[in-house]
Amino acid sequence: MELRKINTQDAFAQWEYTTALPAEENGLTNPYNGVSYDEYVEKVLPELISYEHPVNMPEWFVPETYYYLWDDGHLVGEFRIRHYLTQALRTGAGHIGYSILKGVRGKGYGTEGLRLTVMIAKDIIPEDEIYLRVNKDNIASQKVMKKNGARLAGEDETHLFMRIAK
Ligand SMILES: CC(C)(COP(=O)(O)OP(=O)(O)OC[C@H]1O[C@@H](n2cnc3c(N)ncnc32)[C@H](O)[C@@H]1OP(=O)(O)O)[C@@H](O)C(=O)NCCC(=O)NCCS
Repeated sequence: MELRKINTQDAFAQWEYTTALPAEENGLTNPYNGVSYDEYVEKVLPELISYEHPVNMPEWFVPETYYYLWDDGHLVGEFRIRHYLTQALRTGAGHIGYSILKGVRGKGYGTEGLRLTVMIAKDIIPEDEIYLRVNKDNIASQKVMKKNGARLAGEDETHLFMRIAK
């Protein structure tokens, strides 16, 4: 299993994943649900790649790198790392967002993918802890976080705020 940074060579597999990912699921948003392959290659992919070193983006935009989890030649999940916290991210979505392909959930990919993502994030983010947010009813994702050493740091009405020490 490996994490590969978003790239142009894997465009087709990345498009298949992106176009099938729901527009919203458990707080994870995807504005590109249903996008055509042509639009993905011409517009969406260059934009997502550029997020690592944003140009002409609003002041509030934090650099974000997309990674894909591959197992035996199959793309099975997506992991996004936001490079540092703003006040909005600190009390909101935190550093990392992820999803696993619907057909292969429950096989350990989420747990292993977050482990690999945290290893990369430790070298990127300046904060002492990796901030994560999860819906209170999202038991699978809470397990993924806990199995990666996350501790409960707080909650609001609908979310748990979890942190993984660097
Ligand atoms: C959350 C998600 C990434 C988990 O990925 P996954 O590959 O299924 O996770 P794992 O296989 O590593 O499973 C982790 C644990 O959750 C459990 N689990 C999986 N699906 C579950 C479900 N629907 N209900 C309860 N537990 C579940 C697994 O059994 C496992 O627990 P165990 O180790 O005690 O057996 C995946 O369900 C997903 O993409 N969900 C939609 C997007 C999302 O919620 N992203 C996270 C936002 S915080």
